[in-house]
Amino acid sequence: MRSTHTMDTAANALANSQRLLVLSGAGLSAESGIPTFREAQTGLWAQFSPQDLATPEAFAADPERVWAWYRWRRTLIARGGVNAGHRAIAALERHMAVVIATQNVDGLQTTAGSHDVSELHGNIWVDRCSSCSAESRQPVAEADDDAPLPHCEECGALTRPGVVWFGEMLPVDALERAQAEVERCDCVLVVGTSNQVYPAAALVEMAVAGPAQVIEVNPQATAVSNAVDVHIPESASVALPSLVDRLDALRSAR
Ligand code: OAD
Repeated sequence: MRSTHTMDTAANALANSQRLLVLSGAGLSAESGIPTFREAQTGLWAQFSPQDLATPEAFAADPERVWAWYRWRRTLIARGGVNAGHRAIAALERHMAVVIATQNVDGLQTTAGSHDVSELHGNIWVDRCSSCSAESRQPVAEADDDAPLPHCEECGALTRPGVVWFGEMLPVDALERAQAEVERCDCVLVVGTSNQVYPAAALVEMAVAGPAQVIEVNPQATAVSNAVDVHIPESASVALPSLVDRLDALRSAR
């Protein structure tokens, strides 16, 4: 741990809060064995081209290739499951109102037990019709790579993963909910995001500019690390359970 003082400062900020907004990214699920996007060597975008896999044009040109990649990611998520970081965030609901806005499409924060999760980039377990937009939620399971491409039960057209691709709008409800909560909450916990993708990164910038206490958990420094109130340079599965333990102790002492 960088210093007991840093963790105590963060735990005190949480203990003094009634409303918490969690802004999470791929680093939160990294310890479930799910690769992040931008880390050198291991990040998905170090190995794959987003233009070939995560745009409407890529899907139109080669749906087989796009589905193969998303099926592989579904399998990683199904195998990985939730980790101690997701569980610790869910446990924070014992102490305060917690709203989560995540860039992750894996659905793991809801699986961990959180009740209020806005999925800014959609959900990989949803199939959405490429023609009529009808959605169907798929069971969390390892993918069958040899299965035929999925088609819409309503209109028969090809379905696509229910995620936000480059060049697409974020779900308005999810984004507005997060924006409203930045203004309203006492504390913002930013976990496992490089803060490089907009508009999600703008939520962090709004938080830093506003009155809420901002805690960042990320082993690496990001563009906002110098501006947040507390930067905890640890992995989510180490820092978050430790924060919850400290918060439990502080609240039970009151
Ligand atoms: P990135 O891959 O850009 O950043 C992941 C961050 O997690 C980095 O800052 C790491 O230092 C940090 N990290 C790694 N391991 C961690 C751990 N164990 N605990 C805590 N932090 C850790 O991922 P995002 O910021 O989530 O969008 O990326 C945002 C969006 O970019 C994704 O939603 C995706 C991608 O392109 C779309 O596909 C539209």
